[in-house]
Formats: sequence, C-alpha cells, structure tokens
Amino acid sequence: MIVCVCNNVSEKKIHHAVDTGMSTMSDLRTHLNVGTCCGKCAGCARQVLRECIAKK
Ligand code: FES
Repeated sequence: MIVCVCNNVSEKKIHHAVDTGMSTMSDLRTHLNVGTCCGKCAGCARQVLRECIAKK
C-alpha cells in the first residue's frame, strides 16, 4: 500500500526504514520525504510507523 502518494512511499518502504534504524516521523521526513508535500499522509504514516515499531 502506498502511504505517501506525493513521494511514492509504500508501507513496505517504511518497514524497511524502521529495520534500518529509523524510529520517528522526523526520520521518515528527512530520509524518505514522507509528508513533505501535501502533508495528507502524516496521520497514516505515523500509524504505520507505530505499528511497525510495536512489532519489533
Ligand atoms: Fe505524503 Fe502528500 S501524500 S506529502
């Protein structure tokens, strides 16, 4: 599933990002540009990030 349409960031990409040590929205913003365009994906991205960290 695509989380950030503007920057083509999938749920899978966020999972991979967490695997490589990212743990905050700020990390996702800096490294994947999540939420840096229209910002509509922020809530969904935060939820995916949370679920991903909880699974670890
Ligand atoms: Fe992520 Fe627009 S959908 S910034």
